[in-house]
Amino acid sequence: MATTDRAEAYACWLQYKKIEDVKWLDNYASYCLNIGVVGTSEIIHSALDELSLAFHSMFGKKPTVTPHVDSETSIIIGTYQDMIEEEFALETDVFQSLNDEGYILRTVNHLEKNCVLLVGKTDKGVLYATHHLLRLIQARESLHQLDIVEYPKNQIRMLNHWDNMDGSVERGYSGNSIFYENNKFTTNLERIKDYARLLSAVGVNSISINNVNVWEKETYLITRKLLQDVTSIADIFRAYGIRLFLSINFASPMELGDLSTADPLDNNVKSWWKDKVKEIYQYIPDFGGFIVKADSEHRPGPFSYGRDHADGANMLGEALEPFGGVVVWRCFVYNCMQDWRDRSTDRARAAYDHFKPLDGKFKDNVILQVKNGPMDFQVREPVSPMLGAMEKTNQIIEFQIAQEYLGQQKDLAFLIPMWKEVLDFDTYAKGEGSTVKKIVDGSLYEYTYSGIAAVSNIGDDINWTGNTLAQANLFGYGRLTWNPNLSSEEIAKEWVQVTFGNDPIVVETISTMLLDSREIYENYTTPLGIGWMVNPNHHYGPNVDGYEYSRWGTYHFADRDGIGVDRTIETGTGYAGQYFSPNKEMYNSLADCPDELLLFFHHVPYTHRLKSGETVIQHYYNTHFKGVEQVEDLRKKWSLLEGKIDEYRFHNVKERLHMQLENAIEWRDQVNTYFYRKSGIPDEKNRRIF
Ligand code: GCU
Repeated sequence: MATTDRAEAYACWLQYKKIEDVKWLDNYASYCLNIGVVGTSEIIHSALDELSLAFHSMFGKKPTVTPHVDSETSIIIGTYQDMIEEEFALETDVFQSLNDEGYILRTVNHLEKNCVLLVGKTDKGVLYATHHLLRLIQARESLHQLDIVEYPKNQIRMLNHWDNMDGSVERGYSGNSIFYENNKFTTNLERIKDYARLLSAVGVNSISINNVNVWEKETYLITRKLLQDVTSIADIFRAYGIRLFLSINFASPMELGDLSTADPLDNNVKSWWKDKVKEIYQYIPDFGGFIVKADSEHRPGPFSYGRDHADGANMLGEALEPFGGVVVWRCFVYNCMQDWRDRSTDRARAAYDHFKPLDGKFKDNVILQVKNGPMDFQVREPVSPMLGAMEKTNQIIEFQIAQEYLGQQKDLAFLIPMWKEVLDFDTYAKGEGSTVKKIVDGSLYEYTYSGIAAVSNIGDDINWTGNTLAQANLFGYGRLTWNPNLSSEEIAKEWVQVTFGNDPIVVETISTMLLDSREIYENYTTPLGIGWMVNPNHHYGPNVDGYEYSRWGTYHFADRDGIGVDRTIETGTGYAGQYFSPNKEMYNSLADCPDELLLFFHHVPYTHRLKSGETVIQHYYNTHFKGVEQVEDLRKKWSLLEGKIDEYRFHNVKERLHMQLENAIEWRDQVNTYFYRKSGIPDEKNRRIF
């Protein structure tokens, strides 16, 4: 395999391929060979480096960079403050309306010559404008009449790494950690820098670098011994506009200090954390803050001391406040040892039950991080009723880019359409139009802090994401978080163009594969909102009754007569009652509940008819047969691209599609057999059920 092929897999969306087409070369070359920089900063330096690297690679010639604007200059970059002195007629009101990361990208006539202006409200805007320009060139857009004003719609755009210091990644499907190796920090800082470049190109501005499950070794990340290493990583990300966060162990005062308690109301505990935070800021002056998983899945937390989540979070908030840091407190809190036969408890209810009564009790620098659904990143879940429920408490939503329950980056699942459904969902929290995107962008309740976080899907595989097509999820996450109004189609197309080039067949084929993929995955796994049925612990492949943590229960409550979980108000767990009207009534009613979530909310006979007219059991048979056919079709589509894209990436995806087909067949056969045996109802079409 040629090394250049691997370079393409590694470069992701920063390909910067040499432009061969003379028409485009002429179009761009007049702009791209003389850069004038007004002002300076570390971030502007990163922007310049990226421009120089990209132009050199695309035009075969290094651009000239001057620290001023003269008659030769054709690209001018700088911040509004620095540029205001120059005569570019920059409108003050436009810049006033932008947030700090916004920018304009404009073609102007300067000294009788067309120039492209990249003006950031601050230096971060300059970096984002740079990447915007590079995307335009990679997608072969003309630069002659640019007049773009852009700013991110979400304030915090974060990635959470679930990396452990031994080098493993919890729910990692792309090799080992890029941060740690054998309980030490990596020495490969170049790779971290390349990661920072990739992330800044799509607007990510925050990162946490260790697992939310903070085990023994990682507890030490906030000690003198390791803070120097953390600082080196923070320095790299800072140059790309990204703030660093750490996940902490709530019991640190006991594990690291010599205290006998971690009680958040204990004065010694409070001062221990205050001293600790002060120490961290001596190393990292712009440290973002802490991510905390407490009192869930055996992690320590305030419950041990009879305190609640607000007590715990506020104690940390107080320590971080003088330095401008925040506490990101996760709401993935439930009793994992619950007995599922006891219908009075329902994991789906847990976050709301725990946190809703605490609304208004959290400090202003505490942010609650809520998973998009009430359970755990299934292929189809309703939107968490926590979103919109906390009027007085800052919230960010948590997505999972790593495909834990969606095929683990062997199977293809493009997640943008799923996240868009969530962001566009109307919670009715403040009447019609109270969409999730307005909650997480902070506008509905005027939160001080808000935004989006997601579990990263990268590792040290050469292509970062195991399956090369899973790069689209990381790219798309950034783009969607920047602007939730972009369509899935736009994001898919843009990703293919910057990753594989502009051949219309390649663009069309890969975009279609991506856009269809989530529905295909749902078809051969768990349609109608039931979720799971995966092998316990590692969560790949079918196991219909698979259930971890306890001997009791399944997630689907299937018996001889029917399937689904009764979450209605009258006869079920009452979960449907956690929504605002009219969602509450819609989910509570068997007649009105949307088919795709039917079994999440209702227990129905196998012969229950869906809105489509099919029975539930027949729908299960049909979707499982169809899912396998659709994967076969994905393979055919991909095979047509042989020779049109480089060998390495072609074979990488081809192999994954083969694994996906095997997986889909196994799902089809196990699920169909199970429900045929359970229900005794044959397939109407008499297809062979194994
Ligand atoms: C899921 C996942 C765990 C993870 C947890 C969390 O349950 O399987 O690996 O720790 O989510 O989000 O905290």
